[in-house]
Amino acid sequence: MSADGSDDDTSRSAAATAELAALREGLSRPLPELDARYFYDDRGSALFEKITELDEYYPTRTEVSILESHAHEIMRDAGARSLVELGSGAGRKIRLLLDAWPSRDDGGRCVMLDVNESFLASSVRALSDRYPRCSFGGVVGDFTKDLARVTAPRPTLTVFFAGTVGNLHPDARERFFSTLAAAMAPGDSFLLGVDLVKDRAKIERAYNDRHGVTADFNKNALRVVNERFGADFDESAFEHRAFYDELEQRIEMRLRAVRECSVSIAAIDWRRSFAVGDEIRTEISCKFTRESISRSLATASLDVRGWHTDPEGLFALAHCWRRA
Ligand SMILES: C[S@@+](CC[C@H](N)C(=O)[O-])C[C@H]1O[C@@H](n2cnc3c(N)ncnc32)[C@H](O)[C@@H]1O
Repeated sequence: MSADGSDDDTSRSAAATAELAALREGLSRPLPELDARYFYDDRGSALFEKITELDEYYPTRTEVSILESHAHEIMRDAGARSLVELGSGAGRKIRLLLDAWPSRDDGGRCVMLDVNESFLASSVRALSDRYPRCSFGGVVGDFTKDLARVTAPRPTLTVFFAGTVGNLHPDARERFFSTLAAAMAPGDSFLLGVDLVKDRAKIERAYNDRHGVTADFNKNALRVVNERFGADFDESAFEHRAFYDELEQRIEMRLRAVRECSVSIAAIDWRRSFAVGDEIRTEISCKFTRESISRSLATASLDVRGWHTDPEGLFALAHCWRRA
């Protein structure tokens, strides 16, 4: 599925080669690392939906409550003719913006972008059924590489929910902001959901739920890498670990070997032995203050002009425009 209905084989094969190189580079670090996108096959996306319903997992319900309070103001300020959601997943939060959007039934277009093709297809279908007078499209792609493949009438409001931006390391985050800002026309805006710095125990509880759903989600990355790249990770040889690094202001999710094992991925000529206690980093989730995210956005000339948060200051939506 693509916005314009075409797919370029050459660029797809270049992207696949680059992905293999990045996978090898990440796994070859002293602390091996997997990109957070590898959580998300259909099972991983369904597990994430389960996480969003857990008592401990405050980000989703808090972000939804902010949208419930501020959707009209956001859509009025955006004055958008199109909506684009990056990393759209089940596409539930966007409904709150669609419900508050005057142009929705009057030539409005909404494009969703996600790596998980089947989840994307079903969320686009569900939205089309719910809002029959709005036009919907889907782009299967990577939000760090494929922004140029999204086309939509201007002005566009691009939204990026769930604090997913926190999964990017600072240099990759700033590259992402720069690419996004370069693609923005005057009048376009960007709505960014960020999880805020807070009490360590509250953050750690959110990533260590008592039902073990986050642990299953974390280990799902190994299953995805096995299936997609022919790796031979044994999930049972690893346990879930998540902790808050106060200095870096981020959660780290890791998988720690509970017994000696050796893993190989022929497709990238990679092999490694894990001793008990050796770890793989599967996700970082950076937390922000208003100042720190504003600083990071400002590196790409993006100014925060709207700041919407909840009464406890757990989560925020930053509404940004490119500086003229
Ligand atoms: C944390 S979930 C958020 C889902 C939804 N936006 C929400 O707010 O509940 C992250 C979503 O981003 C997608 N995703 C992760 N990495 C991605 C990437 N590099 N490019 C595109 N989509 C990605 C996943 O498939 C998943 O649907």
